[in-house]
Amino acid sequence: MKFTSCPRGLQGKLQVPGDKSISHRAVMFGALAEGTTEISHFLTGADCLSTIDCFRKMGIEIERKEDVVLVRGRGLHGLQAPSSVLDCGNSGTTTRLISGILAGQNFISELTGDASIQKRPMGRVIRPLRQMGAFIESVRGNDCAPLRMGGQALHGTHYISPVASAQVKSCVLLAGLYAEGQTSVTEPALSRNHTELMLRQFGAEVISEGTTASILPEPHLIGQKISVPGDISSAAYFLAAGLLVPHSEILLQNTCINPTRDGMLRVIAAMGGRVKLENRTDHDGEPAADLLVQSSSLHGTVIEGDLIPTLIDELPIIAILAAAAEGTTIIRNAEELKVKESNRLQLIVSNLKEMGADAEETADGMIIRGGRPLHGAVIDCHMDHRIAMSFAIASLIAEGITEIPQADCVGISYPDFYADLQSLL
Ligand code: S3P
Repeated sequence: MKFTSCPRGLQGKLQVPGDKSISHRAVMFGALAEGTTEISHFLTGADCLSTIDCFRKMGIEIERKEDVVLVRGRGLHGLQAPSSVLDCGNSGTTTRLISGILAGQNFISELTGDASIQKRPMGRVIRPLRQMGAFIESVRGNDCAPLRMGGQALHGTHYISPVASAQVKSCVLLAGLYAEGQTSVTEPALSRNHTELMLRQFGAEVISEGTTASILPEPHLIGQKISVPGDISSAAYFLAAGLLVPHSEILLQNTCINPTRDGMLRVIAAMGGRVKLENRTDHDGEPAADLLVQSSSLHGTVIEGDLIPTLIDELPIIAILAAAAEGTTIIRNAEELKVKESNRLQLIVSNLKEMGADAEETADGMIIRGGRPLHGAVIDCHMDHRIAMSFAIASLIAEGITEIPQADCVGISYPDFYADLQSLL
């Protein structure tokens, strides 16, 4: 797909698709609850459809009409052994969260995913699950998927995670539903807390104290009505477009602003960007608001420490903001970017350089000296949806033509991304 710079400002309003993390969890917890869970504004991206497929293979009836999903839950012990290997596609959230659930079943199952998933580190879930007494193994012995697991009784544990990862935390808490005694996870910094909030809504006893989350086993989970707010990780591309393209004003309606996810808003403020929050609402503990963004001149900043988990998926698009800002932006403590859908640190820096930016990869982040004019380039996105969307936005302020050969991979998290962008031009 080819992109050119935007001759005039972007104007209009958008409701971005439902939050990916919340959509996955609503299906998973709905499957383990008794009764029907009705999910509205569900994200119909490929990742969340992988989660639906996995639970259908375990005997859960799931109906979908556009972005409304009905999950006919069968209770905590109602899953059936799948008759074939579960395919998690490109989805790390599906793979790691389902591992926690499957480890607690009395049957053995196997899961796998695409080429990217088969390279991503799963030792981070294998270790805590084994600490809980689980049988779980990497079939090829390389700590990656395919994984086989289940068939053993679990006991509670207190797992000290070396990484701030909501996928690891959620995996352990979900296994804790099936363990004897209490299960706790402590992480080095607080990662997104959707699992804690939503499991509580479904009826589980979950305690959050600082960076430790604990759960008690065998709750009686009851089906819920869940209205998924817009995904701030998807809104992020339009926040950036609105800031960067002169004479723009965009309203991003009903976007989730959970404080464990809103780091990009704090970074935009630190860079001098103009984003106003209007119309605040609450979706069962998940705060949302309309975000009004206007073109702004930006300056560099430092992004590090506990802020990183609150904007981990937004760092590719934040790097584009940094390249357009005056002065230097330093990103530290972001080594997790190397093990996402691609090695994002490497791809952000190499593609930014292709477009003429001054960017340097460091051991745990990037240094971007902003303000150089960008020009069109051929973007190598390695089928990574967030790299493709970030550089599609960069193309709006680049001179000449930008080509993204694998642009379709945005279907992982935002199938209508290009149509939504077009609607603002
Ligand atoms: C997610 C957690 C994050 C994030 C991913 C979704 C989740 O991953 O990058 O896109 O839904 O729990 P980590 O937990 O590995 O940081």
